[in-house]
Amino acid sequence: MNKPAGRLYLVGVGPGDPDLMTFRAVKVLEDAPVIAAPKGSSSGASSALAAARAQVDMTGKEVVELHFPMRKVFPDRDMEQDEEVLRGWANAAETVLKFLDQGLDVAFPTIGDPAIYSTAFYLLYTLSRMRQGLDVRVVPGISAMSACSAAMHIPLGLGDELITVVPAAFGVENLASVLETSHTTVLMKVNSRLDALVEVLEESGLVDSAVLIERCGLPGQNIYTDVRKAVGRKLHYFSTMIVRKGGRACGMDIMGGQDG
Ligand SMILES: C[S@@+](CC[C@H](N)C(=O)[O-])C[C@H]1O[C@@H](n2cnc3c(N)ncnc32)[C@H](O)[C@@H]1O
Repeated sequence: MNKPAGRLYLVGVGPGDPDLMTFRAVKVLEDAPVIAAPKGSSSGASSALAAARAQVDMTGKEVVELHFPMRKVFPDRDMEQDEEVLRGWANAAETVLKFLDQGLDVAFPTIGDPAIYSTAFYLLYTLSRMRQGLDVRVVPGISAMSACSAAMHIPLGLGDELITVVPAAFGVENLASVLETSHTTVLMKVNSRLDALVEVLEESGLVDSAVLIERCGLPGQNIYTDVRKAVGRKLHYFSTMIVRKGGRACGMDIMGGQDG
């Protein structure tokens, strides 16, 4: 009789600070015989794997790193797809499927929460095209925006306030109108767009309501309570900006942020 297929766990490991990994994430990573971790470039290391290693001993496990080419491809949208990206994802999915077919559980650690701009769902969409009825569990994680909000004592939303999350790497064309309608705007993937972002914030009169956190909870954490000071700097990819109207009145002053 064939062995039943293994189970795939998409595991949010939090924003990098090992203390911000949930008990469930640690348990799933400890129990899984295979850890398949995403990385954004073929030569670089996996941040998710580094975060997982801080809490979980990987001795005796099969650990593989999967390269996910990142580009504007959305597997659940009706749009022209980039063949090279799809091939990269298919390779990653085939590697995972090989372990599942051997009856081995696979844990896929991902930074923050799997539902927020994570490769976890690229993997899931690709796998579900290859195989029906896979056994999958999603383990939620603490998101980077939650960690940044906590570090700065800034609430993301109170009462009827609107919170908007913007992946800034995809462009800042609509940012002015987003800022106008939202009470709090969280900007992720800001590192390559910082100068343009600050320009829009200046024009919107909100530059003093913004705070930027680089490597929140990690060695080399940097907090900019004056985001203008970050202009022209080479920021780490793990950089998030929170723009909260009236933000300085609501928390930022009580913790005395330090500027990069
Ligand atoms: C691909 S997204 C992953 C988001 C993640 N799934 C989450 O739930 O937060 C990567 C972005 O998350 C943010 N990020 C992740 N870790 C961070 C950290 N330790 N400090 C600041 N921002 C972080 C940055 O905006 C980064 O560009």
